[in-house]
Amino acid sequence: METTAAVLRGGHEPFVIETLTVDDHRADEVLVRMVGAGMCHTDLLMRDLPPEFFAGPQVYGHEGAGVVEAVGADVTHVSPGDHVVLSFNSCGTCPACSTERPACCFDFGVHSMSGARPDGSKAFTDANGEPVGSHYFGQSSFAELSVVAARSVVKVDPSFDIAKLGPLGCGVQTGAGTIMNSFDMLEGQSLVVAGAGALGLSAIMAAKVVGAGEIIAIDRHANRLELAEHFGATTTLSVEPDQLAGAIQEATGRGADFAFDTTGNAAVVKGCLEGLNNIGTIGLAGVGFGDLTFDYLSMISGKRILGIMEGDAVPETFIPHLAQLNADGKFPFDELIQTFPIGDINDAESASASGEVIKPVLTF
Ligand SMILES: NC(=O)c1ccc[n+]([C@@H]2O[C@H](COP(=O)([O-])OP(=O)(O)OC[C@H]3O[C@@H](n4cnc5c(N)ncnc54)[C@H](O)[C@@H]3O)[C@@H](O)[C@H]2O)c1
Ligand SMILES: [Zn+2]
Ligand SMILES: [Zn+2]
Repeated sequence: METTAAVLRGGHEPFVIETLTVDDHRADEVLVRMVGAGMCHTDLLMRDLPPEFFAGPQVYGHEGAGVVEAVGADVTHVSPGDHVVLSFNSCGTCPACSTERPACCFDFGVHSMSGARPDGSKAFTDANGEPVGSHYFGQSSFAELSVVAARSVVKVDPSFDIAKLGPLGCGVQTGAGTIMNSFDMLEGQSLVVAGAGALGLSAIMAAKVVGAGEIIAIDRHANRLELAEHFGATTTLSVEPDQLAGAIQEATGRGADFAFDTTGNAAVVKGCLEGLNNIGTIGLAGVGFGDLTFDYLSMISGKRILGIMEGDAVPETFIPHLAQLNADGKFPFDELIQTFPIGDINDAESASASGEVIKPVLTF
């Protein structure tokens, strides 16, 4: 079986559209025909890593949405013809997976990041007969047809527009999940969101759903802050990191209940942490490198720092929940989407990198 796919052959090279051969699906896999696949910053992160981290030619894509073509013998939760959203893969049995935190799976690397099945085999082969990495987040959805790990596959109601649901698989789920799961925010509580991109704006929309009080958005770009206001931010800040704490204290009175960082910038994180009230919590989702520093004593009041992975979502239930909120008009994440045919994937990447487009979705 052959498929069109976008292949990344080198860390700093453009994606190349190729025809690949796809392996037969195994007993615990699902063959999915993609309709749309979101592009998330984590797909592009590979380019920022030192070259030794590049694991060879690979198909990325981890926000797929499409229709089931065929299922393996052990797959019982979906059937051919079902509409599905694809999320991360996990082992299902480790202490994190067994306590409803599959995104924090102890073997996440093997199941979602290795560019192969857990046994090391790759599902794609190129025109020269060479293997091409597959199973990124269990799915490698920058391909029209892909064999996907069963645990990555989430069934959704066919009445929803499947073409726009892909971003629920990672970015949107992470932003909304932080508010609804990791923070379990209550009505009236205050929130700071640093970075008004795909994750941050999804968090703001979710904060509106739970009836948050003050919602403060931080970004460097005025157009992003306008969007933040459109989705529910009550205050917007574009100030130097060392002025953040004061500005947050001023907007909230006694400091914020929650802060969500999506910038991965250590100085912004420090400012947000200092802007929390005594029992405030900060969640860190933005990917940063190096050390984070903050004043030792400032933590003893009772503040909390949480590392955020996929908003502590259990995709199987959380993705259908967000899709329903969207259908009900309460969670308009699809306003962040701009579509590009898969052949224009490099344009989608530049539009995402420049900030012009918040959530590119590749169509097939
Ligand atoms: N932890 C997880 O589970 C998870 C999941 C998905 C993505 N991510 C990561 O989250 C991050 C955000 O993803 P996204 O898709 O929302 O990206 P994005 O580019 O759409 O949004 C980031 C926003 O932060 C703003 N920003 C960056 N640095 C800033 C600074 N110093 N001050 C003010 N604003 C600043 C940018 O202008 C942008 O609007 C990325 O690092 C991504 O890899 C993490
Ligand atoms: Zn696990
Ligand atoms: Zn992602």
